Amino acid sequence: MLETKKPLIRSSGFYVRMRLPHNARNNRNLQKSFCYRCFKWILWFSISFYFFSSFLITSNKPTPSLSKTTISHFREARALIEEQPLDSSAAFRHHLKNPGDSNILKGMKVYVYDLPSKYNRDWLSNERCSSHLFAAEVAIHGALMSSEARTLDPWEADFFFVPVYVSCNFSKVNGFPAIGHARSLMASAVRHISSQLPFWNHSRGSDHVFVATHDFGSCFHTMEDMAMADGVPEFLRNSIILQTFGVKHKHPCQDVENVVIPPYVSPESVRATLEKSPLDGRRDIFAFFRGKMEVHPKNVSGRFYSKRVRTMIWRRYGNDRRFYLKRHRFAGYQSEIARSKFCLCPTGWAPWSPRLVESVALGCVPVIIADGIRLPFPSAVPWAAISLTVAEKDVDQLGKILEHVAATNLTSIQRNLWDPEVRKSLLFYDPMLEGDATWQVLVALSGKLDRSHKKPRVSIQ
Ligand SMILES: *[C@@H]1O[C@H](CO)[C@@H](O)[C@H](O)[C@H]1NC(C)=O
Ligand SMILES: *[C@@H]1O[C@H](CO)[C@@H](O)[C@H](O)[C@H]1NC(C)=O
Ligand SMILES: *[C@@H]1O[C@H](CO)[C@@H](O)[C@H](O)[C@H]1NC(C)=O
Ligand SMILES: *[C@@H]1O[C@H](CO)[C@@H](O)[C@H](O)[C@H]1NC(C)=O
Repeated sequence: MLETKKPLIRSSGFYVRMRLPHNARNNRNLQKSFCYRCFKWILWFSISFYFFSSFLITSNKPTPSLSKTTISHFREARALIEEQPLDSSAAFRHHLKNPGDSNILKGMKVYVYDLPSKYNRDWLSNERCSSHLFAAEVAIHGALMSSEARTLDPWEADFFFVPVYVSCNFSKVNGFPAIGHARSLMASAVRHISSQLPFWNHSRGSDHVFVATHDFGSCFHTMEDMAMADGVPEFLRNSIILQTFGVKHKHPCQDVENVVIPPYVSPESVRATLEKSPLDGRRDIFAFFRGKMEVHPKNVSGRFYSKRVRTMIWRRYGNDRRFYLKRHRFAGYQSEIARSKFCLCPTGWAPWSPRLVESVALGCVPVIIADGIRLPFPSAVPWAAISLTVAEKDVDQLGKILEHVAATNLTSIQRNLWDPEVRKSLLFYDPMLEGDATWQVLVALSGKLDRSHKKPRVSIQ
């Protein structure tokens, strides 16, 4: 290809590497068959050892002695392993349920740009940057850095991740993230990468991945009317955006290839809450909500906070003893979620909210009141089986609806909800876990490989 012929700053290394395979091929084949034989023996030995040791430890819960790569490379052994009712650890079960998972990613490779620190690392000096509800931009970056899907060789990459943190410029006045600078920071990052390396120009950005975690995602504005008027910045329209915002109808803020991701909730905080809360099924709060509920919402350019849904809930159920409604912040609210049967997740300015993730993670049935919301990772999370959806217009029927569910299928919804795989898929772990939120992002990207303009290496010469 013409563009790639021009030597780049770092290209000499690639030329050497690309020629190498020709001369080394015979050697490689010899090595390969030798290695293959070795591997076969090692594998045979480890499988025998596994069964021998699990036979010895017949009591509860031996840790699996087969590594996950061994399992996925040698599926013929799977049937045997599946018959062993020995291990009940969630991770292991998951492998047996989805033995091909390691292949779901199809060997996909992601290159993570090494940007100057003003685009990302500098912001971390504020601790909140990596823990607040928009922190998925930090978490995904961190998880990718140590992930097996990462490649250090951009020529090998299917996708390019551009790590810009735009949600950490906290206002000195109210503490909220100011995102007025987001567009220019993103634009500057794009100028930087397109001047340094050829990959942005190759694909016009179509295989480049960005994160936009605030209210209206890639529109980078906190107010919907302004966000809609501005739309997705021109320079990002050809790329892939991972965003918390998603609706089923047409909307200017998702007029771009996108993946809906969950808002960030620290797995550590969830773990700490679960440790403190006795999860013996005793949930003494029937319906829970804590958060902003305006009694008289202001008309902000034709829109009312929460489309008045929260106001309706407050007016109708504020004095109802089944409802535990609080309008003030409280640091220990996760423990309240762990005590609740139903957790209300009404729309705010944007339809999504971190409550959804916290409810799922803590086993409280989310009651989604946000018409048309598009939920994250529908292929991994069976939303219809683990949550309830109530139309905004039916919010005054909430009491009746929840009573009906409590009397009929609450137990089965709770059972579906308490699946460790479901809860894991909405949390960003570091390092990434198979099946967690970053993993789900990679799965979603692997469905978009056709956008990758990866040039075959042989075409260089
Ligand atoms: C952070 O936000 C403030 C207020 O919106 C803005 O004046 C400032 O330029 C931003 N900082 C950066 C580094 O972009
Ligand atoms: C990519 O295109 C831009 C605009 O046409 C140009 O300024 C830049 O030098 C190109 N980048 C590379 C690495 O060739
Ligand atoms: C809200 O304000 C807009 C003007 O900003 C006005 O056109 C509209 O009628 C108002 N709506 C209500 C219900 O007051
Ligand atoms: C539970 O019942 C409600 C109300 O009848 C229904 O809408 C919902 O789909 C049911 N959920 C499950 C998982 O059975």
